[in-house]
Amino acid sequence: MTTTPLNGTLAEPAPTPLALLLLGREADTASERGVDCPGDLPAASDPDLVARARAAKAALGDRVFILGHHYQRDEVIEFADVTGDSFKLARDAADRPDAEFIVFCGVHFMAESADILTSADQRVILPDLAAGCSMADMATAEQVAECWDVLTDAGVADTVVPVAYMNSSADIKAFTGRHGGTICTSSNAERALTWAFEQTAGAARSASDKGGGGRGAGKVLFLPDQHLGRNTAVRDLGISPDECVVYNPHKPHGGLTAEQLRDAKMILWRGHCSVHGRFSLDSVNEVRERVPGVTVLVHPECKHEVVEAADLVGSTEYIIRALDAAEPGSTWAIGTELNLVRRLAKAHPDKEVVFLDRTVCFCSTMNRIDLPHLVWTLESLVEGRVPNVITVDPETEKFAKLALDQMLALP
Ligand code: 13P
Ligand code: SF4
Repeated sequence: MTTTPLNGTLAEPAPTPLALLLLGREADTASERGVDCPGDLPAASDPDLVARARAAKAALGDRVFILGHHYQRDEVIEFADVTGDSFKLARDAADRPDAEFIVFCGVHFMAESADILTSADQRVILPDLAAGCSMADMATAEQVAECWDVLTDAGVADTVVPVAYMNSSADIKAFTGRHGGTICTSSNAERALTWAFEQTAGAARSASDKGGGGRGAGKVLFLPDQHLGRNTAVRDLGISPDECVVYNPHKPHGGLTAEQLRDAKMILWRGHCSVHGRFSLDSVNEVRERVPGVTVLVHPECKHEVVEAADLVGSTEYIIRALDAAEPGSTWAIGTELNLVRRLAKAHPDKEVVFLDRTVCFCSTMNRIDLPHLVWTLESLVEGRVPNVITVDPETEKFAKLALDQMLALP
């Protein structure tokens, strides 16, 4: 299958202080990155960890509700009351108003969303505050505000509806809510984009009445994952890759001319997932040679050329359902996070499940939540201390909730 050359290329970021903080070195007092656990963390080698986690969870009973994202380690998933992708977990958190403590075994943006969707007296806890997300960090509030100024100066802001991926900070979600947009996840991105273009139709009409708009009138600003945005627009909505432009926050005016912005339908933020971004066309070709008859199934955070070369594309929940429905004896190469792929392989011994890439591909920040952090969190709660509470300030929460509620109301 041929692919059309795309705007913008992907380069590894330079080793900045931020990159070091993500690795847990140094400390950033203004954010959760790189912070040390303030408590007395049990040793990973402690043979009683499982028993301690069980005892603490039993002592807390219904006061605690533990959510586990599919990319979490097995040792953590074992203690989750529910597992899911980010969409399902957002709903699950909102559906448990009786739980005093929501322990979120996932990453920071997920815990923020849970805090926004739960009541004021519930506390959302992230067992390790250094469990951030490199993709979410690729769009800061300042950069996005500057982008909106660029769109305004180009005369197109009136015709743009923002769609932010769940994998973004509460600030970016609030920006999206303030500008009449919606949040999406990998399981509802098509519905979210369809809805957003329906909203832009009205906005484009009124902008062109005022002499604005332009050739590609009716646009979506998709943040922060360029790949999910492009894959959804091109594969699901039939938008041409030529109508997608990439806004690079590190370049003046995003690296785009006013004319390019006017002509575009999709303005893609230049962000990506450091885990899914690793899969390449070579890995697809290589696995097809290595495993004859294999079905290649990838997550839509993968690059467009990988998604085009795959047989099936879908969110983590989709991947799990596809494997559940697969014929015994079938062979599968999965392009998503390794904890999930390993669990799928274990759960389906009658099928051959291989990892799409030969190299190990855990999400390093998801993996920060381990059994010692979970035990420390649960035992702290038993002792009456509430550690690592994630709170979103009321003003940000108000607008972020608008965008999240819009997602939950998508047709
Ligand atoms: P989903 O949970 O929406 O599939 O997203 C995958 C992911 O990268 C979560 O961080
Ligand atoms: Fe972020 Fe990618 Fe890890 Fe998900 S898998 S938390 S998007 S870095």
